[in-house]
Amino acid sequence: MSSRRQFIRSTAATGTLLWTSPLGIGFGQEKSSGSSSNTTRSRTATGENVVATVHPIASQAALAMFRLGGNAVDAAVAAALCLGVVDGHNSGIGGGCLILIRSSSGAVYAIDGREKAPAASSPTLYLRNGKPSVELSQTGPLAAGVPSQVAALHLAHSKLGSLSWSALFEPAIHAAQDGYVIGNATSSTIKSEFADILKFEASKSVLSSASGQPLAIGETLRQTDLANTLRQLAKAGPEWFYTGEFATRCAEYLQSIGGVMTKSDFANYKAIERTPLDSKYRKHRVLGFPTPSSGGIHIAQMLNILENFDVAQMYRESPARFFHLLAESMKLAFADRAYWLGDSDFVKVPDFLTDPDYAAKLAKKVDLEKAISVAGHGNANATDESKKHTTHLTTADAKGNWVALTSTVNTSWGSKVMVPGTGVMLNNQMDDFSIAPGVPNAFGLIGSAANAVEPNKRPLSSMSPSIVLDENGKPFLTCGAAGGPKIINATLQNIVRCLDLDESIDKAIASARVHQQWRPDLLYVESGLGGLRIPNATEKISVKEGDDSIARQLASMGHSIRPVNSIAIAQGIQATSNGLIAASDPRTDGAAMAF
Ligand code: GLY
Repeated sequence: MSSRRQFIRSTAATGTLLWTSPLGIGFGQEKSSGSSSNTTRSRTATGENVVATVHPIASQAALAMFRLGGNAVDAAVAAALCLGVVDGHNSGIGGGCLILIRSSSGAVYAIDGREKAPAASSPTLYLRNGKPSVELSQTGPLAAGVPSQVAALHLAHSKLGSLSWSALFEPAIHAAQDGYVIGNATSSTIKSEFADILKFEASKSVLSSASGQPLAIGETLRQTDLANTLRQLAKAGPEWFYTGEFATRCAEYLQSIGGVMTKSDFANYKAIERTPLDSKYRKHRVLGFPTPSSGGIHIAQMLNILENFDVAQMYRESPARFFHLLAESMKLAFADRAYWLGDSDFVKVPDFLTDPDYAAKLAKKVDLEKAISVAGHGNANATDESKKHTTHLTTADAKGNWVALTSTVNTSWGSKVMVPGTGVMLNNQMDDFSIAPGVPNAFGLIGSAANAVEPNKRPLSSMSPSIVLDENGKPFLTCGAAGGPKIINATLQNIVRCLDLDESIDKAIASARVHQQWRPDLLYVESGLGGLRIPNATEKISVKEGDDSIARQLASMGHSIRPVNSIAIAQGIQATSNGLIAASDPRTDGAAMAF
C-alpha cells in the first residue's frame, strides 16, 4: 500500500473502502458522532464546514473536498457523485437531481436537473391495447427519462464551485474502482429487484456474485466500467456524456431493446436555473424548489395553513391534535397536487396554491376534532406501494454557502437497465408522470392531464430541498429527504419542529413522523420512534376505549391509521451559537461529518 493509500472504516457497518488519492486527499474520521441505525438519535457533527449524507463514504468524499479548500458546492457535488457509486440503488449519473443553493453572497439558486421525456414520447406511450402498463413505465428501456444529474452538477459547479471539475470525481472513481463492502441497504434492494435486474445483461453481471446470486452483505462491489465512465466525465466534461460517446452508446442500446431515446434527446438536455420559491412562515423565510418539484409549493401551502393555528401550544396541550392538524393540512395539499401540478414549462400551475388567503380558506375546512373527507378535483383511489429510494444530502461551509441536494434514479435501481460497458444504471423517472388518468404510480400517487406524458416534459417530483432563512436573511436551517411523496411531509415536519417547537434539527429528524397523501385516504404513522406507541407495526390498529396513545387518539378522530416502520430518510443542517450542526437520519446508516 502506498503512503497515500488510506484504509477507511466507516462509522456504520455499511462501508469500507480502499482509497488511493493522487491528490493526497485522505479520508479520516472527523468529529462524527452517532450511533447504530437502531437508535432514535440522529448522527450529528458540529463545525464550520459540515455534511450529512446517507453513506459514510459519501460524507467522507465531501469532507475531502473541504480539506482541499473546496466550498459547500464542491463538497455536495463530490458527495453526490460518490453516492451514485456506493448507494447506486437510490441515485447516480443515470438519474437526476434538484439542487437548492444559498450562496455566501446571499444569492439563491434552484438548479433543475430533472429528467425529460424523450422527444418520441406521447400520452399513449404506456398504453397497450388501450390499457396502461406500469410494468413499462417502471422497468426496462421505456422507463428512463433523459439522464440529467450530470448537467445539474456541472451547472452548480460552473456557477459556484471552487475546485477543478476533475477533483470532484476522485472519491467516486476510487470507490468504483477499488470497490466497497456492501451493507444492508444495497444488498436488500439487489435482492428485492433481482428478478428484473437479471433481465439486463450488464445489470446482472455487476450486481450478481460469481455464483449468480444477488450480491449479499459483506461482499465487495467493484464497478470498473463505472470508474472508467467517471474518469471520462472528469476529463472530458459533460459534453462526453451529452453529445459524445456516452450519448451514442446509451441511445443505440436503448433502441436495440425497444426504447425511444435518441442521441438528440441527450444533445437537447439542459439543466435549468429556476426561480426559487420564497415564502414566509411566521418570522422566517422558507426557500423551496419550484416545479417540476411539487415539494416547494406544497410545503409553502401547508405552512400557510398551519400559520392559522398556534401549533406550539397545540403540541403542548395535545400532541394527537398537532398530528391531526398536520395530517389534515397534508390531505388538503395533496388533493391539490393530484389535480394542478405538472411541469410548468407545459402547464399553468396556479399561483393561488401558495397564497396565504387560499390557505386561510383551507384552514377553515379543518375540524380540530375529526378527520374531514376531501373530495379533491378528480375521483380515483390508489394504493401505496412505496419502497425506499432517492437520497438527500446537504452541505454548508464557513463562508456561508449552503446546499440542499436531492437526487434519484426513482425506485430502487431505477429502470434496472444498465448501459453495457458504462456501469451506468438508468432511472425509471417516467413513472413519475401520470401514465393514464387515475392510474397510481409506484408511490400510489395519481395525477391529472397536468402531469401526463408529453415529449420533452419533466415528470412531477416530490423532491423538496429546502433552506430556511432567519429574520436577518441568514441561513438558519436546511432540510430535505428521500421517500417519494413522504419527502414533502417529512420536510414539512422537520421545519415545523425546528421553527414552532424549537427543536434542534437532529431531534426533529429523529422524531416520529406521520404521512397523509389524500389518496389512499390513510394516515401513515411511524412506530418505534419518538413515542408514538403502536402495538403491532404490521397491522391496522383499532380503537380501544381507555387507550390514550397518540395513534389511538388519531384513530378515534376518524383517521384510518396505517402503522409503518419508517417514513422518509432526512438530512439537515442548522446554524447554532456553537457552529453548524449537521444531522443524518437514524433510520438509515448515514453519516454527519464536520471539518
Ligand atoms: N422519483 C421521486 C420523485 O422525484 O418524487
